This record gives sequence, C-alpha cells and structure tokens, in this order.
Amino acid sequence: MYNFLQNFHSGWAYLTLLMGVLFFVMVGFYAINKKERNNFITKLSFFTTLTFHVQLIVGVILYFVSPYAQWTENTMKDDTNRLYAMEHPLMMFAAVVLITVANSKLKKSEVVKMTPAILGLLALACVVSRIPWDAWLG
Ligand code: HEM
Repeated sequence: MYNFLQNFHSGWAYLTLLMGVLFFVMVGFYAINKKERNNFITKLSFFTTLTFHVQLIVGVILYFVSPYAQWTENTMKDDTNRLYAMEHPLMMFAAVVLITVANSKLKKSEVVKMTPAILGLLALACVVSRIPWDAWLG
C-alpha cells in the first residue's frame, strides 16, 4: 500500500502543479480583461480545487505510513526529516486552504476579480517552495 500511495502522490503532483499554473494564468487573464465568469472558468476552478484536495488526502495518509515523515528528537536538526515531517505538510495544507478560498471567491462574483488569481499564485508559491525537488525529480 505504501508504494502505491507514494507513486500516486508523486504522479498526482504533476497534475496539481499543472492545474495550479492553469488556474493562475486563466483566472488572471479573465480578471485583467474584466471578463464575466463562465462555465469554463468555473469548471477549471472546481477541478483545480478537486486536484489539490485529492493530493491532500493521499498526503495525509502517506504521512502516517512514510518512513520519511517520522518524528525523532533530531527531526528539527535534520533538514530532510524536518521537510517531510513538518514543512512540506504545513505548506501544502496552506496551499489547499488558499486554493479553496480562491475557488469560493471566484464563484461569488459575476465578473472575475484579481483576488482569486492572487490567492492561486500564493498557493502555487507554497507548493513550489516545499516540494522535495531532489527526491521527486532527481
Ligand atoms: C497538496 C499539495 C501537495 C503536493 C503538490 C505534494 C507533492 C509531493 C511530492 C512531489 C513529493 C515527493 C514524491 C517523490 O519523492 O517522488 C511528496 C512527498 C510526500 N508528501 Fe506531499 N504533496 C502535497 C501535499 C501533502 C500533504 C498535505 C502531506 C501530509 C499531510 C504530504 C505528505 C508527504 C509525505 C509524507 C511525502 C514523502 C513520501 C515518501 O516518499 O515516503 N504531502 N509530496
């Protein structure tokens, strides 16, 4: 089960990043051009949020079974251990909250505003800052 979850979380991360970038670019484009919210942008926002939530759920399960997310008395002194046990989960959780608020703000206005795009960018920044890049792509 651990291997399946790890592979899933690793692969789904590509989709999460792709959807995050698409969300920011498209919502930003709609906001700059003061376009009305339509079916496309509402669906894009919904599926971006869904993608983030799926990654969160799998991440939480993984947290309890992964050998990298263990807490020891040296966790805070060890960069890799601290990343997996604390920084990665916290920042990713913040990203999911931000994208969820962005989605809810987008749904509330007729004309697309800049706020959801900025929240989307902040969510992306959280994700990008605390992905274990070396383990993922190295
Ligand atoms: C929502 C955005 C998230 C993204 C984009 C993301 C992305 C990633 C990536 C790319 C890896 C490295 C995978 C690899 O080594 O191939 C990873 C590992 C990991 N993530 Fe996440 N993650 C997210 C959320 C979370 C959350 C919320 C938790 C826990 C509460 C979590 C827990 C973990 C753990 C424990 C690992 C290490 C897995 C292992 O190799 O044993 N992730 N994550």
